[in-house]
Amino acid sequence: MPKTETPVFTCAECGYESKKWLGRCPDCDGWNTFASGMSLPPPAPSGPSDGESPRPLPEISADDRPRFSSGLTDFDRVLGGGIVPGGAVLLGGEPGIGKSTLLLQVAEGLARSVGPVLYVSGEESARQIRLRGDRLGAGSERLFVLVETSVERILAAADRIRPVALIIDSIQTVSTAILPTGPGSLGQVRESANRLIGWSKRTSVPLFLIGHVTKEGSIAGPKTLEHAVDTVLYFEGERFHQHRVVRAHKNRFGPVHEIGLFEMAEKGLVEVANPSAILLAQRSIGSPGAAVLATVEGTRPLLVEVQALVSSSRLATPRRLGLGLDSNRISVLLAVLEKKSGLSLLDHDVYVNVAGGLDVDEPAADLAVVASLVSSFRNRAIGEGTIVFGEVGLLGEVRAVGDAEMRIREGVSLGFSRAIFPAGNAAELERFDGIDRQPVKRIEELLDAIS
Ligand code: TYD
Ligand code: MG
Repeated sequence: MPKTETPVFTCAECGYESKKWLGRCPDCDGWNTFASGMSLPPPAPSGPSDGESPRPLPEISADDRPRFSSGLTDFDRVLGGGIVPGGAVLLGGEPGIGKSTLLLQVAEGLARSVGPVLYVSGEESARQIRLRGDRLGAGSERLFVLVETSVERILAAADRIRPVALIIDSIQTVSTAILPTGPGSLGQVRESANRLIGWSKRTSVPLFLIGHVTKEGSIAGPKTLEHAVDTVLYFEGERFHQHRVVRAHKNRFGPVHEIGLFEMAEKGLVEVANPSAILLAQRSIGSPGAAVLATVEGTRPLLVEVQALVSSSRLATPRRLGLGLDSNRISVLLAVLEKKSGLSLLDHDVYVNVAGGLDVDEPAADLAVVASLVSSFRNRAIGEGTIVFGEVGLLGEVRAVGDAEMRIREGVSLGFSRAIFPAGNAAELERFDGIDRQPVKRIEELLDAIS
């Protein structure tokens, strides 16, 4: 039986549909985001394969057009190795984080070395864009700026110019005439994006959509675009001070979790040459509660400091808080640690933080989290110059992780003298004799190694 009832209430932030009005969206946790009668229109037939008939697989031309460089190595890296013709990229981030700056720099680079670029803004005046361009040193004759919010007029201009890339700043400010609602509504964001993406697939012109993010951290409205685009990039942390992390959250053309690290400077975003050194710059060497984790983000190794604070709690339910780390994972590690080491941690408040504002969500962070917890609890610093990585199982066993060599090599190149890692990785690390290697099988052995 097909569903006949159409939901009448839709969350304007994430598209969650409900038959009743809700004060808080169960999906994105937005308050007062439900609007009545906002039943979404069926998607217009604007996909990549308009009106095509089925063809046998071998008859389809593979025509693998080569990627081209954005002019910024780190941006190429998060894209999975450069810009893909016909690829649609969503770039999300909080206001003021640098979205327009980054894409204007990319636009200028492409205009100089590849061909004409169309940069469409529905947010700023042409003069404001010119001023930003001046600041960035952008002045290519082939960088075309259009202040426009109508998708139809944008595509007409794009058809005339035939750019090598189309940039929309931002998807929340444009609208298509086929819907009566104004820009920014969920239906408009979806439908406008559909039309732009359809155009991009048909013409093989790469498309970049800028999307604003709400305070809660979700891409407002455009969150529903995540499945429609090929690549979702997200600016992380203002918390990062001068530094900006762009991370791939989804990528049909490359690895996810790949990050690019930039510094916001006088003349725009500048790539950071040695991220580990920057992330560790303000390290509190010799302080109890700190452990240096060798993590891998995408294809790149990074050393970051994990900081723990364990203090006796007066609360019935002690607090567990993770910043840049999953709080549930921290609770699990605490339980394992208490059971296997006999340290009575469960009546303590526990805070764990990744210094520098980076989010780390790989299991290889476990061993460093445990090391920092023990170090804080004992109030004894971990030996200087030590890097730690490894996954911890529920039975207290330390499990091997991927990319062990890459992690060690990063430690060696930054002058670290000791590495604590899973025994399961020991064989592949044998040839690194420039660093004191301490493989551990169980967390009890970790406790000995850092005492
Ligand atoms: P912007 O790119 O406009 O952010 P978004 O489009 O994400 O809202 O600008 C980000 C901030 O960067 C803004 O506060 C000004 C600053 N900035 C620099 O420090 N250097 C520069 O060269 C530019 C262009 C901007
Ligand atoms: Mg902007």
